[in-house]
Amino acid sequence: ELNDEAADDEEDVKVIAHRGASGHAPEQTEPAIDKAIEMDADWIELDIQKTADDELVAFHDDEIDRTTDGEGEIGDHTLEELKELDAGSWFNEEYPDKADDDFEGVEILSLEEIFDMYGTDENYYIETKSTYLNEDMEEPMVEMVEEYGFDEEGNVIIQSFHQDSLQEIHELNADIPLVQLLWWEVDEDTGEMEEWLEITEAPDEMTDEHFAEIAEYADGIGPHLEYYDGTEVIDEEFVQTARDHDFMFHVYTINEEEDMERLIDWGVTGLFTDFPDRLHDVLDNR
Ligand code: G3P
Ligand code: CA
Repeated sequence: ELNDEAADDEEDVKVIAHRGASGHAPEQTEPAIDKAIEMDADWIELDIQKTADDELVAFHDDEIDRTTDGEGEIGDHTLEELKELDAGSWFNEEYPDKADDDFEGVEILSLEEIFDMYGTDENYYIETKSTYLNEDMEEPMVEMVEEYGFDEEGNVIIQSFHQDSLQEIHELNADIPLVQLLWWEVDEDTGEMEEWLEITEAPDEMTDEHFAEIAEYADGIGPHLEYYDGTEVIDEEFVQTARDHDFMFHVYTINEEEDMERLIDWGVTGLFTDFPDRLHDVLDNR
């Protein structure tokens, strides 16, 4: 039974440090990556976008306002301009109990800098973000992964909400493991769920054909657990069905111990979390 297998494999549940250990340090920056490594995360998760001069950088929002002292869209700035910004002080203001003087003035990092700094010792779980803004990022991303030999070493996973982006990457290099991210909207009146990107139906309506279509290019799926209003969108049965189709099953973004416990019981194979230390504690105590 898959349940038993999953239980036996619990020590293999992957700890994916969401935007680095972003519960402890400013997301996607060197301190967050360092903390993720210190906390023994299996994967460092990073959102990748394109600058005005076509460089790939680790950054989540389409605008730079929330996490830097700049303003406007990330894609309207060159890498040189972005490097001037302070991508850390916002964290100290937002989370005074976690504040650290060392976070002040930390820089936005290019993907190349990250690969250079951390090399083959680490594992990178990188996302093609907002591809309607960041056009044609797939080819340079794959080329960089190949240049560092990460496709052969197996230390890069590429994830995306955008099916066409993953399909393009699969065409470029079928050795890179891919994860299809999923998001369902919940109708607040009826409670009905609708797939945001029309890749699938609601989880309980997903058929073998839906899974087979995703399996043509991807090795895993990355669903969320909850909608904004707290409605849970996936359940144990969905995890089991996806696992029956041999998908890696990585849920984002899980920060509460109780949710970690429950999802591990359901048989997930990894969790994105801002607190890799917390997930390790949960796993160690089972
Ligand atoms: O990539 C998984 C999860 O990070 C998706 O949400 O918005 O944090 O990129 P987001
Ligand atoms: Ca992400």
